[in-house]
Amino acid sequence: MITTSVRFVRTGTLMRAFSLLLAAGLSLSGCAERTAPVTAAARTEVLPLIPAPAQVERGEGRLQITAKTVVSVPPGDVPARDAANHLVELLRDARGLDLSVREEPVSSPASIRLQLDSKSPVAQAEGYALDVDAQGLRIRARDAAGLFYGAISAWQLASADAKHGAFEIPAVTIRDWPRFGWRGQLLDVARHFHDVDTVKHVIDAMAQHKLNVLHLHLTDDQGWRIEIKRYPKLTEIGAWRTPPGAGRHGTPQRYGGFYTQEQIRDLVAYAAERHITILPEIDMPGHAQAAVAAYPEEVGVTGERPAVAVDWGVNPYLFDTDERSMKFIEGVLDEVLELFPSPYIHIGGDEAVKDQWETSPAVRAQMRQLGVKDAHAMQGWFNAQLAKYLTSKGRRLIGWDEILEGGLPESASVMSWRGVEGAVAAAKLGHDVVLAPAGWMYLDNLQTDRSDEPNGRLAMLPLSRVYELDPVPAGLTADQARHVLGAQGALWSEYIPSSRHVDHALFPRLAAVAEVAWSPMAARSWDGFLARLPAQLQRYRALGIDYSDGAFAADIKIDGSSNKVSTNTVLNGGPTKIALGNQTGIGQIRYTIDGSEPTLKSSRYGAPFAVTLPVTVKAAVFTEDGQPLAAARSRHLDRDALLSVDTQGLRNCHDGGPLGLRVPLLPDMPGTDTPVYNVDLFYACWTYPQARLDGITGIRVDAVRLARNYGLAHDQSKVHQYPPSSPQGELEVLSGCDGEILAKVALPAGATLGEQFTLEAPLPPREGVHDLCLRFTAPIEGPLYAIGAVHLIEATAQSPPKR
Ligand code: ACM
Repeated sequence: MITTSVRFVRTGTLMRAFSLLLAAGLSLSGCAERTAPVTAAARTEVLPLIPAPAQVERGEGRLQITAKTVVSVPPGDVPARDAANHLVELLRDARGLDLSVREEPVSSPASIRLQLDSKSPVAQAEGYALDVDAQGLRIRARDAAGLFYGAISAWQLASADAKHGAFEIPAVTIRDWPRFGWRGQLLDVARHFHDVDTVKHVIDAMAQHKLNVLHLHLTDDQGWRIEIKRYPKLTEIGAWRTPPGAGRHGTPQRYGGFYTQEQIRDLVAYAAERHITILPEIDMPGHAQAAVAAYPEEVGVTGERPAVAVDWGVNPYLFDTDERSMKFIEGVLDEVLELFPSPYIHIGGDEAVKDQWETSPAVRAQMRQLGVKDAHAMQGWFNAQLAKYLTSKGRRLIGWDEILEGGLPESASVMSWRGVEGAVAAAKLGHDVVLAPAGWMYLDNLQTDRSDEPNGRLAMLPLSRVYELDPVPAGLTADQARHVLGAQGALWSEYIPSSRHVDHALFPRLAAVAEVAWSPMAARSWDGFLARLPAQLQRYRALGIDYSDGAFAADIKIDGSSNKVSTNTVLNGGPTKIALGNQTGIGQIRYTIDGSEPTLKSSRYGAPFAVTLPVTVKAAVFTEDGQPLAAARSRHLDRDALLSVDTQGLRNCHDGGPLGLRVPLLPDMPGTDTPVYNVDLFYACWTYPQARLDGITGIRVDAVRLARNYGLAHDQSKVHQYPPSSPQGELEVLSGCDGEILAKVALPAGATLGEQFTLEAPLPPREGVHDLCLRFTAPIEGPLYAIGAVHLIEATAQSPPKR
């Protein structure tokens, strides 16, 4: 007796056909299978799948799945059983539905059925066919990965909303396969170490996005994170550093960590079960300071032992190129190859400033003997040795695009990060390439310009920008384009110290990375993606993924105040209007002005509205059907607030500097509850734009003394020293950066890092609106000073500044 616990529910006589391609504003021409009239209602209905499948066609009716639904696989079909188990697990976690998997020779009517099938209609590797109809839900694929991805899609169809228990899936025919075989995400575990649980959390999420390469950046100047048995000091010494401000704000005396080989094996197996390959990166010849700190004689160029670095950026330590060093590297690679089955091994190759090689008599002599013309070519020789070694072991070398500069070994592949030019050049030379261009794929860049963003790089990388990338750069012929293996997001971790930061930076932008790497351009559309995102956010909540809602969060502004002009109008007694909006422009914004928490019943924002100061505006964002999109944000507006700007409201005095960062109190603070400071490493100078100075008698600055822990290599000379009047330096306030000095305050003595203090000074009477320039003259060899907020003080204020 077969239980038919899955019911196919007819929704009337109307044939409802729908294609995600249509929802994306695209035609059905890619769909070879049955077609049917598409109603207006169907056009607006969204299938909650991310990444968008290659082909989708909606059928007639809906399928009901309950706690009694049979999930079956053919006897002995191990890949089907594995995928089915994974589906059942996800349904339990996200839906609270406890199904179990059975082996049955033929599928029960109206069941969920997974089956490896050499005749599956989708022939492409990793592809799958998913059919929901009167027969039930069927997933067929020609390989195990395809079955797994079919299961992920089935789970996504089942988790469109936050409800628990039984659910309905619309009738649908999906034919899906990835555009690229390489769908990656880099996690830097060297700058900040992320433990096994965090890495598994990332692996789980990657699998749910149909990503299949986890690039682990295992070694760098600031830490060596993989146990190498024959060289124990790599982790005994190289995995640990003494952080700036040790002991303050929770910063440990010793920061670090590493994975034992047993943990690596566990991670590799865990990833493999989810059809993810872990690509190990051992960064060489640069970013080698931790290795040199551990084995200065064996691999260092100078023989001197540095400390494991605490400076982010580019440090001078390179691996040596002599026989002893090259043998050492082979020894490391031998253990890496034993641990990681990945066909590719990443050898780094980025940002290797050659000063140590160029000044070493031994390296210069070796270059002469080899007939190598310069240090770039020497890196080419170094890479060639690694490529030869890896090839002899049946593996392939991949490295950052700098490896193009010294001549590329024939077998090498290139990961393009400095734009797409490296990819174009390499593909034209016949090398395989992976696109990880920083301008689209570096997820340590902040995703909004909101003040509540945590630490990160300041060039903004919104969700929409990530989504934009086409991994096949324009200008490649079809033959050259075949060298594009795929695309990859990157999460460098200088400013990502905790697992919460990892989640905040990765999600939801990983969803965009996934669609970039999986979906054909014809199935991609920004509007379609946005329509499918709320379901994805709901899954994140169900799975405990601490995503950023910044792209949807309400920005609360004085109307017209992208600059300070309208703020000044209000200060002059003009009317006050509040404008609400968000980065993506989706959702309904609900707000209150009485201090209460906004709900779906609160006023819906339509146009700028008038308020009387003081006022607290709170605004939350929901989808049209009432699901949460962004938590409530609050802004208190009174006269003091209008006379203040926070670190985000300040402007860099020099636009376009590449080194804009948002930094915490201390670089290795474990928590997330740190104030943050926008800095430009080259200029300790900020502008308070269009300050209205009528009636202003003083200025108060919330300032901080930060670690200056940045390796700038040859750019060090670009760091500007403003002339100090005393050894400790001052804060200067000027009317315009080239104008007169209005105030000068001595910086407090001492060198305690992470110390916050307030500087206050009278300002001479001025009228009208001026850009105020604030700069620190502290010696650039010492700590870095920065500003949390600036407050202008009015004559009428209760406590006028001390004169
Ligand atoms: C890199 O961002 N240095 C590859």
